[in-house]
Amino acid sequence: MEHYLQPLDATQLPAWQALREQRARMQDFSLREAFASDPQRFARYSLSRGGLFLDYSKNLIDAPSLACLLELAEQVRLRPAIEALFEGRPVNASERRPALHTALRRPIGERVLVDGVDVMPEVHRVLGQMTELVQRIHNGLWRGYTEKPITDVVNIGIGGSFLGPQLVSEALLPFAQRGVRCHYLANIDGSEFHELCSRLSAQTTLFIVSSKSFGTLETLKNTQAARRWFLAQGGSEADLHRHFIAVTSNRAAAIEFGIAAENIFPMWDWVGGRYSLWSAIGLPIALAIGMGNFKELLSGAYTMDQHFREAPFAENLPVLLALLGVWHGDFWGAQSHAILPYDHHLRNFNQHLQQLDMESNGKRVRQDGSPVSCGTGPVIWGGVGCNGQHAYHQLLHQGTQMIPADFIVPVTSYNPLADHHQWLYANCLSQSQALMRGKTLAEAEAELRAAGLAESEVQRLAPHKTIPGNRPSNTLVLERVSPQRLGALIALYEHKVFVQSVIWGINAFDQWGVELGKELGKNVYARLTGSETGAAEDASTQGLIDFFRGRHRG
Ligand code: F6P
Repeated sequence: MEHYLQPLDATQLPAWQALREQRARMQDFSLREAFASDPQRFARYSLSRGGLFLDYSKNLIDAPSLACLLELAEQVRLRPAIEALFEGRPVNASERRPALHTALRRPIGERVLVDGVDVMPEVHRVLGQMTELVQRIHNGLWRGYTEKPITDVVNIGIGGSFLGPQLVSEALLPFAQRGVRCHYLANIDGSEFHELCSRLSAQTTLFIVSSKSFGTLETLKNTQAARRWFLAQGGSEADLHRHFIAVTSNRAAAIEFGIAAENIFPMWDWVGGRYSLWSAIGLPIALAIGMGNFKELLSGAYTMDQHFREAPFAENLPVLLALLGVWHGDFWGAQSHAILPYDHHLRNFNQHLQQLDMESNGKRVRQDGSPVSCGTGPVIWGGVGCNGQHAYHQLLHQGTQMIPADFIVPVTSYNPLADHHQWLYANCLSQSQALMRGKTLAEAEAELRAAGLAESEVQRLAPHKTIPGNRPSNTLVLERVSPQRLGALIALYEHKVFVQSVIWGINAFDQWGVELGKELGKNVYARLTGSETGAAEDASTQGLIDFFRGRHRG
């Protein structure tokens, strides 16, 4: 039976039991000692694929435990699950849909069937449609209502219709084409709208309404506000088609909303929102960096797809990252995972990964509806280095929780400044080294004595200066943050998330949990605005509604 119809309970597999035994055996495992006793550890536990170099030697693994993890991947039938993903089988079982983001980066000539129809011609037709739009805007041929060329593009969208495009267009700033500035409007908070629109001219602004469903409250409210703003600035109803385009799989809703039919770019049910930056949802990316670079991004992701599909598990970057995550989460008790890019341009990477990972694997029942019997997706958090070192790294080093981390760093900076990049790179390495090595009590004492402190001071301070170490991390090194490498990097994490979902037997492609808040939001809004007068279901919500209404009375 297919994994997405009847997943195995991984905890009942022999490999899971073997991993429990490995964990018990490794109770006193020391990374310091592992490095000291094995000069080949770095070479053994590092590999380079798709332009990415992964050092995973600073994880709590040795040969037998890694072998058991790889065996787990076999026993959960990962290989056929990967094929099911790529072949467009309905791996999103609750919605009976495939998850074919990989089709979006496949070259011309390949075939991918959905319900017996090859979707690849349509994928490439839309890429052609995007190319035409990007060229018209870049060449000043798309004109606003006063015949001026477009200078600013505002993407109105939220979640996957925002985070991926924002990450990529900012990460690839060194590849930005001159002439068009890209902005993002996501939140329903009017402050965001005002801050942005007060800097824009309606005459030269194009709005992209980016919504797979075309039913997302924040996006629809912001689009209505943008339309009002446009008309108030001097534009007319007849000019709207020059300033509003849409990307959606709900064409009918977009037309009903007033978007001109010829300005609608399609999306498909078989692409999840958080996996959609490779589709026309990536239009702001293509407008920011040009269509050539956008295709390089796709090609980098495709390289990772092929690697994921073909490489043996022991040399497979997404599979290794996924197994290490399961190992530290389910067997060592880690509940969160830090993403620490040492690159200014990747400062939004952890936000994209938060949605990618937490919306995908924040689940508690398996594909068949039965409850999981192990931990699933961790909390993903983090931020750009070195800033984090002067904020939350303290907890990474000395807090009571063990938090695995991924360090991500390019070798080359686009903006060399004296020796800054050497320092940035050095800081990245020294953080993972400090997490791994820590500082023993004896070392802390010796250090304090060497500084000439009295023995009473040594004893007073040494416990505070002791750092446990043995904290796991991966380091991913890129030659530079190029469209190719970034495409591969994002696809790497997409596949990591998928592998973990297969191990846990959960559906990585639905998100029913977010619906409850949306439903309740409508009820609360009705009571806030007085269209519903009955009391809220609980006293806390009613009390907070009363507080708001009390302040807005009269
Ligand atoms: O509410 C969550 C969510 O459905 C995400 O999965 C999605 O990326 C986001 O909202 C935006 O959805 P849409 O593109 O349909 O507006």
